[in-house]
Amino acid sequence: MRSHARLSMRLSQRHERWIYLTAAILFLSGLGWLIAHYFLAGPAEFGERHQVSEPWWMRVHGAAVMAFLMALGSLFPGHIVRAWKAKKNRRTGLLLLTLLALLIITGYGLYYVADEDLRPWLSLTHWGGGLVVVAGLLLHVVQGRKTRAKPRVTATHPAQSEGSDSVIAFPKPQRGPRRRG
Ligand code: HEM
Ligand code: HEM
Repeated sequence: MRSHARLSMRLSQRHERWIYLTAAILFLSGLGWLIAHYFLAGPAEFGERHQVSEPWWMRVHGAAVMAFLMALGSLFPGHIVRAWKAKKNRRTGLLLLTLLALLIITGYGLYYVADEDLRPWLSLTHWGGGLVVVAGLLLHVVQGRKTRAKPRVTATHPAQSEGSDSVIAFPKPQRGPRRRG
């Protein structure tokens, strides 16, 4: 039962690739926009300066957001809930979820909030969080793999295997020399 729960908190290869692919497109399209906006845009005649490729980066970003959020949603019932119950990799998982929540809230704000004073702050928090979340995902995966790599030992004592995936082997009691008489 335990080993089954542990197996099913692990993502299938296809699922894992889907997360990496959508996250990579999300990140690269955001980065593309940043480079276009801050390094390639010429001086503006009126208001804020813009570069022609910016709307294209955002079109790709918007599509990647939809695919990534579908992949994220699909992680909840299996991966997240089971790993949470098993108390595995909770800290970096929670960090990742917090950063993603920040990106979703600020992304929503960028799309729907029209306040001109608020927008630069939303933008800065959003792309700052976007750069940090990549490190968060890497950390999460590395930490998760570490917990997976722990050596498994075989159990013979029920009390030791309670609440833990790794179980401990107890040596068989040694028989002393037979006494005569
Ligand atoms: C769950 C993750 C994310 C969500 C839901 C999200 C959502 C959004 C949305 C809705 C917008 C507004 C699109 C528009 O105005 O057409 C946006 C803009 C943007 N996003 Fe993301 N995004 C996410 C991750 C990222 C990441 C990882 C980066 C990496 C750097 C990033 C960088 C940007 C940038 C630079 C903009 C343009 C900012 C501006 O217009 O001032 N985003 N995002
Ligand atoms: C509180 C929330 C979370 C917890 C407790 C958690 C827990 C774990 C654990 C225990 C592992 C190692 C699984 C194993 O190999 O045995 C892992 C790996 C992984 N997690 Fe999470 N996770 C959480 C949230 C997330 C989120 C939000 C994402 C994606 C955005 C994610 C993506 C991954 C990926 C890609 C791996 C590597 C593939 C794998 O080992 O199956 N996790 N996580």
